[in-house]
Amino acid sequence: MRPDDLNVKILGIVGTPIKDGNCQYFLERALQAAESVGRVTTELIHLRDYRIEYCAGCESCLRRVHKIQKQVGLDVIPVPVKGYNCSIKDDMEIIHKKMLEADGILLAAPVYIATIPGQMKTFIDRCRTFVHDLRLRDKVAAPLTVAFFRNAGSDTALQAMALSLLAMGLNVVSFGASAVSTKEGLGIPIRDTRFAVKEDLIGMTLMSMAATQVARSALQMKAGRIAMEKAGILAKTGGWGPVTGD
Ligand SMILES: Cc1cc2nc3c(=O)[nH]c(=O)nc-3n(C[C@H](O)[C@H](O)[C@H](O)COP(=O)(O)O)c2cc1C
Repeated sequence: MRPDDLNVKILGIVGTPIKDGNCQYFLERALQAAESVGRVTTELIHLRDYRIEYCAGCESCLRRVHKIQKQVGLDVIPVPVKGYNCSIKDDMEIIHKKMLEADGILLAAPVYIATIPGQMKTFIDRCRTFVHDLRLRDKVAAPLTVAFFRNAGSDTALQAMALSLLAMGLNVVSFGASAVSTKEGLGIPIRDTRFAVKEDLIGMTLMSMAATQVARSALQMKAGRIAMEKAGILAKTGGWGPVTGD
């Protein structure tokens, strides 16, 4: 690949029951900011448009990962799982494919009772295969949230998403950003504005910083991976097997 061909895709995933709300607007603007870095294409998906069942806790994903590890060895990372690795046949298959194809992921959810809403958590639970197969390990990510109040759960929501992204093996490259959808974050509605979140200039600025950081890091990660491949040092690195060097 020539340097001119370097480009990345950032996938934005919004998890809230509300379509066209503040959270979706926040993510749309974040994807625009990411595109402004250049060589970046984006896609936004809303979890409400997909049929996503709860994780059944069957652990079939884990068993399949372990079975493949037995065949190929513990030092092969990511574990070469082919395709969709979940016993539940629903729209998560489409979303897993999009995640695997992306170079960066932005998760966006509102604060619901001091943390993330059920839609986002259900989606996260259904990503357990990635925790064990590390197929997302060369991707970058950051979380975004919108709340009524400045200080009523935004940090918890950001942490819940950031830690989940880390657990899935992604590289979280920013604290992310929180914004408020009420006047000064005091819970007072802003009338006559479709997307009140845009009045929160601090939140909008933090969001732009987080999104551009994700875009830049995705480009750097991809460039680095290409350089490593060229140098022939990517085949077997960082495995979980025993240290056998002399
Ligand atoms: C069930 C529910 C619980 C909420 N809990 C909180 C909360 O704990 N803290 C907060 O600041 N805002 C809370 N909110 C407000 C939302 O975070 C806020 O309205 C946000 O803008 C929603 O995003 P949306 O406009 O995309 O729907 C809650 C809203 C709902 C519907």
